[in-house]
Amino acid sequence: MMRVTVIERALDRFFHFYPGVVAIVGAKDPSHGANFMPAVWNTGLSFDPPLFGVSISPKRHTYRLLENEAPWSVSFLSFEHADLAARLGSTSGRDLNKVNAFGLAVLWGKALDVPILKNAFAAYELEPAGRVKTGDHDLFIGRVRAVWEDQTAFDQEGVPLPEYVRPLLYFGRFRYGAPAEKTVRLKFR
Ligand SMILES: Cc1cc2nc3c(=O)[nH]c(=O)nc-3n(C[C@H](O)[C@H](O)[C@H](O)COP(=O)(O)O)c2cc1C
Repeated sequence: MMRVTVIERALDRFFHFYPGVVAIVGAKDPSHGANFMPAVWNTGLSFDPPLFGVSISPKRHTYRLLENEAPWSVSFLSFEHADLAARLGSTSGRDLNKVNAFGLAVLWGKALDVPILKNAFAAYELEPAGRVKTGDHDLFIGRVRAVWEDQTAFDQEGVPLPEYVRPLLYFGRFRYGAPAEKTVRLKFR
């Protein structure tokens, strides 16, 4: 039986569109060198130009790092690193140097001055391309200036191979998972 609830104000349960792939947003930080936070509210926005967006609350330290048009990155982790994502998402760069605290191996961008997580299977270097105030989060839009990819994790068309990579999924309320181990290719024309 479906339950229908008419909504007039904020939702206290807003997970129906989960699970989502977790993107770890990285930015240069004047105090710590680099800072990282997980963001499940992330999405591709355009192929040409290549645009990627992340919705970030003004409560986050990361928001402060990005608000004046700084470049940023997203790193994609596999399920094996769920623990790291959970730690990065339960601490703030406002009061902790996460790079030191979690012993993060950081690489620096080739196109932009952005930190990337070394254990990511893919990452983007993003140049600021706009910010849209949506509600209690802002959508930060970035233009992809460099793509990092572990070549074993993708097929010749650039599609993730489930037998080599299990992108980290977030289900909400501290629950993490991984996608199915098989995919099916359905092509009708
Ligand atoms: C899996 C996961 C996904 C999250 N997704 C978002 C998100 O999309 N947007 C956001 O503003 N906060 C999100 N958060 C919360 C921030 O990651 C969290 O508040 C983090 O501590 C902020 O770090 P910072 O203060 O160093 O920027 C998420 C947290 C977790 C654990």
